[in-house]
Amino acid sequence: MAMEINGKTKVCALIGHPAEHTLSPLMHNTLAKRLGIDMVYTAFDVEEADLADAIRGAYALGIHGLNITVPHKQAAMEHCVSVSDAARRIGAVNTLVRGRKKDGYTGDNTDAPGLKRALLAEGITVSGEDVIVIGAGGAARAVLMVCAAEKAKRIWLLNRTVERADRLAAEIAGATGYNRIEVMSVADHERIRLRAGHKAVCFQCTGVGMYPLTENAPIEDAAFFDKVSVVFDLIYRPQETRFMRMAREAGCTAYNGLKMLLYQGIESFERWFDVTVDDETAGEALEVIERNLTEKKTIVLTGFMGSGKSTIARLLSDLLDERLLDLDSEIEQRVQTTISDIFAVRGEEAFRAIESRILQEVARTEQPPFILSTGGGVPLRDANRKLMRELGTVVYLKTSPEEVFRRVQGDDSRPLLQTDDPFGTIESLGREREEYYRLVADFTIVTDGREPEDIAGEIVSKVFPE
Ligand code: S3P
Repeated sequence: MAMEINGKTKVCALIGHPAEHTLSPLMHNTLAKRLGIDMVYTAFDVEEADLADAIRGAYALGIHGLNITVPHKQAAMEHCVSVSDAARRIGAVNTLVRGRKKDGYTGDNTDAPGLKRALLAEGITVSGEDVIVIGAGGAARAVLMVCAAEKAKRIWLLNRTVERADRLAAEIAGATGYNRIEVMSVADHERIRLRAGHKAVCFQCTGVGMYPLTENAPIEDAAFFDKVSVVFDLIYRPQETRFMRMAREAGCTAYNGLKMLLYQGIESFERWFDVTVDDETAGEALEVIERNLTEKKTIVLTGFMGSGKSTIARLLSDLLDERLLDLDSEIEQRVQTTISDIFAVRGEEAFRAIESRILQEVARTEQPPFILSTGGGVPLRDANRKLMRELGTVVYLKTSPEEVFRRVQGDDSRPLLQTDDPFGTIESLGREREEYYRLVADFTIVTDGREPEDIAGEIVSKVFPE
């Protein structure tokens, strides 16, 4: 249904600081559109000193509902005319509901019910289970509330500063009567002793591993995951944290925080509009958020020599009207030498160093979005793969050795293929590299027997769905 803003349109908003990267407007406006509710949702960046004025002003303007996020969740409580039991127990509000008669907003907290609904949706049970919670901030508080209410068998609360975790455990005990929380330093995690034959549900509630410091994890020891069956990481940017990746590699199931974000929002929405959001609508809102998070407009092409990267990059650049960058050409221009000469005079290692340096320069200085075609050896280095992924969507053009051989025959511009047995070189190098192409790519396209135009079209439809 197309929606038109008019004099009757209700306004809801998020108040936070900062507020510009929030996904809440996208989520709530999607919900309103799908449910035919005449509402627009926006975000306000409000500094601490202005919070009281902002809330009072919002009420005076008739703003229908508010979400409150960091750093205002505690302070906003004081500016509500009443506060729900849930919010009082948790000591923070994230949702302000406009009372019909009252002269102000009622404060509520949907973090715990949102998490409960997310757990239900993922099929995760904490009732009677051993639970490990990492972190002792606001997110951990909501997790502990749910685990206490659901009667987890026992909870290990791990934090860098033990005192802070001690205080939180005491608060939870005071609010809920739950007293089976054992506090320890994250560094002491080996001391966790689970019941024989049991594995724990682990909640990652710190900001460690969040964009842009995505290579960090709160626990680096792979042996930790021997004690864990399920990881629920409350981070959703990136959608797979390093901690989640480690968990998956160790055979655990891992979830990110997107569903908790979704359901805490849905719980707010339901309070403002006195509706129940059905699963289908929730799923649609989730899809819109996920798409927004994965939308990366720069396209990076990877694959073996002769896989068609340059040709397809040129086509993509025309189709999307975006700038074309070819890493090999960039190298030749910036170093003022041909690739063959670099190999001949300085050797492959020197070439790899130059290649990495120019990739870094391109990533740092070129204004996105663009189409980047990269040399076949670029993904061999960890740091290069990381940069490629940060730049945008990475597409692996996969071509059989036979086809590569056909395409590069008679072409002497590739020093690595100037051997007695080029086909054998293509085969063995290709086999060695396959893993790296797969690691770096968001998706793979097999190019054998297909026209470049057809391949470029498929890439565009995958990168820009709808
Ligand atoms: C190389 C691939 C070449 C070029 C250099 C090394 C490789 O680029 O960077 O000869 O190691 O695979 P193309 O893949 O564009 O041919």
